[in-house]
Amino acid sequence: MDRTILFHIFAAVSFLCIFPITCLSKTSPNITTDQSALLALKSSIALPPDHMLVNNWTTTTPTSVCDWVGVTCGKLHGRVAALDLPNMGLIGTIPPHLGNLSFLVRLNVTNNSFYSDLPEELANIRRLQYIDVKVNNFSGQIPQWFGAFPKLVHLNVANNSFSGSVPQDFGEIPRDFGQLVNLELLSLHSAGLTGLIPSLLFNMSSLEEIYLFENKFSGSLPRNICPRPLLRVLAIARNKLTGNIPSGVGNCTALSAIDLKENNFTEYGQEGLVSTNCDVYSFGIMLMEVFTRKKPTNEMFTSDLSLNRWVSEALVNGVTQAMDSRLIRKEEEHIFAEVNCVSSIFELALNCTAESPENRINIKDALALLQKIRLEFLAKLSEN
Ligand SMILES: *[C@@H]1O[C@H](CO)[C@@H](O)[C@H](O)[C@H]1NC(C)=O
Ligand SMILES: *[C@@H]1O[C@H](CO)[C@@H](O)[C@H](O)[C@H]1NC(C)=O
Ligand SMILES: *[C@@H]1O[C@H](CO)[C@@H](O)[C@H](O)[C@H]1NC(C)=O
Ligand SMILES: *[C@@H]1O[C@H](CO)[C@@H](O)[C@H](O)[C@H]1NC(C)=O
Ligand SMILES: *[C@@H]1O[C@H](CO)[C@@H](O)[C@H](O)[C@H]1NC(C)=O
Ligand SMILES: *[C@@H]1O[C@H](CO)[C@@H](O)[C@H](O)[C@H]1NC(C)=O
Ligand SMILES: *[C@@H]1O[C@H](CO)[C@@H](O)[C@H](O)[C@H]1NC(C)=O
Ligand SMILES: *[C@@H]1O[C@H](CO)[C@@H](O)[C@H](O)[C@H]1NC(C)=O
Ligand SMILES: *[C@@H]1O[C@H](CO)[C@@H](O)[C@H](O)[C@H]1NC(C)=O
Ligand SMILES: *[C@@H]1O[C@H](CO)[C@@H](O)[C@H](O)[C@H]1NC(C)=O
Ligand SMILES: *[C@@H]1O[C@H](CO)[C@@H](O)[C@H](O)[C@H]1NC(C)=O
Repeated sequence: MDRTILFHIFAAVSFLCIFPITCLSKTSPNITTDQSALLALKSSIALPPDHMLVNNWTTTTPTSVCDWVGVTCGKLHGRVAALDLPNMGLIGTIPPHLGNLSFLVRLNVTNNSFYSDLPEELANIRRLQYIDVKVNNFSGQIPQWFGAFPKLVHLNVANNSFSGSVPQDFGEIPRDFGQLVNLELLSLHSAGLTGLIPSLLFNMSSLEEIYLFENKFSGSLPRNICPRPLLRVLAIARNKLTGNIPSGVGNCTALSAIDLKENNFTEYGQEGLVSTNCDVYSFGIMLMEVFTRKKPTNEMFTSDLSLNRWVSEALVNGVTQAMDSRLIRKEEEHIFAEVNCVSSIFELALNCTAESPENRINIKDALALLQKIRLEFLAKLSEN
């Protein structure tokens, strides 16, 4: 028995030694591999005879695939590095052969009518950084193997017909690859998704933009949604999320747009109230938290003295009481500019948290106003 196994190993090794070139070309894909992958893609698309791909993606003229429309090859390796086929009215499926494009960095087929599953073979493309398949008709589960791309920066699968939930281990990839440490944009909006938002998602320290709106996500958000404060956009409107708006939103210091509306969140200090304007409400609360360094849950805020009322009374009695004392140093020459600035911010925050949603400023105006306050403050500082 042992001898047989040894014999086979020996035979295999000799084979490698005797035919190294054959073996190498068998195991190393080249541009010909890329060409067959693209031709497989072409044949899985129902092209009308006058479509530009019909006579362009062809081997009858002796051009390289690198000259095909939508194809970009890498300068050094000469292999297909980007496939950009957006807005082309393509109706078809993605064949497994596309997984052979081992040098692909960008795959963009946005705004076509591709349908069916995304084939698992795509997970072989370790160099992928940008996946943009939004506005198509892909179905099936959100692939588990999205975690297999260690370099992924943008993942946009929005506006498709996926079903079911996002795997709870989404983004968790085998130990050897680490995690999706480079992911900056994740867009899964309008994609037919249900279930819980994987909590791991909020642990991805590189994420700057999260779009999950218009799905049927349920459950609550984790308390600490900004463990690392890079998050700039959090758009999760129109889901079925419940529970509190996470108090940790005050830790999202880079946040410039937040949209939580049309969910079933419980607002701060109000029991069971659903507000379509809670996005601007939570923005206002966040402003108060940041500039007072107090949380609505702080024990000094009993039910009849909410953060909101405390700040409005402070505006009457003198804003320095409400401000985080670390923000002002008494000897500071810019104290008036600072107090004015914080007063304006508190006024804005109070407007954002007005009891009746109709009386609240809209989030766009709120952000514009905040920017204006900031610029005025900076201008004052440079005057002195
Ligand atoms: C690519 O590899 C195949 C064998 O798999 C070989 O026949 C072909 O000549 C190679 N093409 C190029 C362009 O090197
Ligand atoms: C395909 O289209 C590209 C870009 O329009 C062009 O440069 C190339 O020559 C075309 N190739 C063929 C075979 O028609
Ligand atoms: C989507 O593609 C179609 C062509 O198939 C084009 O007419 C339309 O303008 C594109 N939409 C966007 C938003 O680019
Ligand atoms: C490419 O992928 C397909 C399907 O995944 C496979 O059948 C084929 O053998 C692969 N290799 C080449 C060189 O085309
Ligand atoms: C994909 O193509 C569309 C249309 O050209 C573009 O707006 C989008 O930014 C591209 N996506 C990526 C990731 O490059
Ligand atoms: C998407 O696919 C479904 C079937 O899976 C079909 O009923 C629907 O019409 C398709 N939608 C579009 C926009 O192509
Ligand atoms: C989704 O795509 C369809 C076209 O396929 C478009 O009409 C619709 O506005 C898109 N929805 C969103 C939210 O982008
Ligand atoms: C997120 O990170 C924290 C601390 O780094 C860890 O305790 C927690 O278990 C992580 N959560 C998930 C779902 O991995
Ligand atoms: C906010 O960040 C601080 C400092 O990193 C941390 O101690 C605190 O627990 C965070 N708050 C929440 C609600 O996660
Ligand atoms: C959300 O609130 C609406 C209206 O208040 C209610 O009909 C619905 O059942 C609630 N959904 C969940 C998931 O709690
Ligand atoms: C908030 O601001 C808006 C727009 O500036 C204004 O119409 C509204 O009356 C303000 N609400 C309160 C409560 O001050």
